[in-house]
Amino acid sequence: MRRLFSGVGARLALALFVVLVGALALVYLIVVPSLESRLVNARVSGLERAAPEIARELPGNRVRWTDFLEAASAGANARVVVYDTIGPPTALVVVGDSQGFSSSSDIQRDPLALKTAEGENPASGTVTRGEERYAEAAAPVPRSSSVVLLSSSLHEALATVRVTRERLLVAGALALVVALAVGYAGSLLFARRLRRLETAAERIAAGQFDEPITDTGADEVGQLARTFDRMRLRLARLDHARREFIANASHELRTPVFSLGGFLELLRDEDLDEETRREFLLTMSEQVDRLAKLATELLDLSRADAGRLRVEREVVDLAEVAEAAVYEFTALAVAGGRPLELSVADGVHVLGDEQRLFQVARALVENALVHTPEGTRVEVRVRDGILEVEDDGPGIPDEHAAHVFERFYRVEGLRSSGSGLGLAIARELAQAMGGTLELASEPGRTLFRLRLPVAERTVSSKEPVEV
Ligand SMILES: Nc1ncnc2c1ncn2[C@@H]1O[C@H](COP(=O)(O)OP(=O)(O)OP(=O)(O)O)[C@@H](O)[C@H]1O
Ligand SMILES: [Mg+2]
Repeated sequence: MRRLFSGVGARLALALFVVLVGALALVYLIVVPSLESRLVNARVSGLERAAPEIARELPGNRVRWTDFLEAASAGANARVVVYDTIGPPTALVVVGDSQGFSSSSDIQRDPLALKTAEGENPASGTVTRGEERYAEAAAPVPRSSSVVLLSSSLHEALATVRVTRERLLVAGALALVVALAVGYAGSLLFARRLRRLETAAERIAAGQFDEPITDTGADEVGQLARTFDRMRLRLARLDHARREFIANASHELRTPVFSLGGFLELLRDEDLDEETRREFLLTMSEQVDRLAKLATELLDLSRADAGRLRVEREVVDLAEVAEAAVYEFTALAVAGGRPLELSVADGVHVLGDEQRLFQVARALVENALVHTPEGTRVEVRVRDGILEVEDDGPGIPDEHAAHVFERFYRVEGLRSSGSGLGLAIARELAQAMGGTLELASEPGRTLFRLRLPVAERTVSSKEPVEV
């Protein structure tokens, strides 16, 4: 039983059933009795109005009563009985009856007529005689001890009420069946849509993102389905990016590890002369450096993804950062015959993390020196809140420019040595510091522009700022 009513459909149908039964019971218990009492009251008050009139007009001459009572009975649509009062103790004697004396035995001791005879005036209400109920009203005949009683059977009125009650029951039962069927069918449809959503959610939970979630309804369930589908697409994209990232990262890690393994193998050969051995060790150390750099970059990216990339917000002298980066790469620039120039405006203070800013500047300068032909001129400029690294190398073609900030993206065909993560991390860092990193490139010129929030106070570069 519990299982039967655990579904949404069954519960809704049950609720509908309960509400409908309640409404029908209300109609049955309130409307029907009030209909009955209105019909009875209408009859009683009709008689109440007629009784004093008939009593007033009752002829003094009893010979004329038969005709009068007949006419009065027809006029009031009720039996008219006339009593004489005797006593004490008060008793009644029927002296006139529109139905004829032969049938008067049943009405001899009428309680309402008796009340009127005892002085309670006017007396009216309902009386049950035998199986039947009657509406009655009595009135004293003026200037005599007689009482007139009007009595009308309520059989017809009560029959009307009975028929109404029966029809109401039948109509109610029918409405109940129809409502239950319609409600159940409707809620089944509803429940089926919900079940489809549930299945879709389970599919997504199991990592299957390919099947779209469709529900064309304009209601809340349809809305939910559409939101769900947007979530599915987003999750699918994230899942794809995650897989690609892992594949790329393992590929990048494998290359230097294999190369190191190869060199180790060669080093085991004892016939190697000292110079070759030193050369091998140098290459191996370069590979280890590459691995270490890659590990740091991957760590930074995973921190950025987890929202745990911590950057300070302190006042930093951007010129100092640029100078340090240029200084670090001077040797490399000279070796490649690339003039490396620096032009800084004084007192350019920004809000950021000094170490991270240095990391971004290094990535940009390194790129300008590594991904350009020998002899390329590189210029680092610092002005209000901006650090620019420009080179007059071949430039980055438009179709690649949109992608260079993506992870593991390298422009093919150009001299390339890194793993394609430098710019991705640099942009994450710039954004984490509340700034931007943009590329403006054209043939013969590549310009990376780092924009940062300008510090209001141009004080000591080490002073921390609360944000
Ligand atoms: N100044 C530049 N001139 C020409 N191409 C550039 C320049 N800077 C970047 N690129 C291109 O953009 C690509 C992405 O640069 P990014 O710094 O992200 O990676 P990377 O330098 O290859 O590797 P990593 O920096 O991780 O060692 C580079 O591979 C290079 O092809
Ligand atoms: Mg790089």
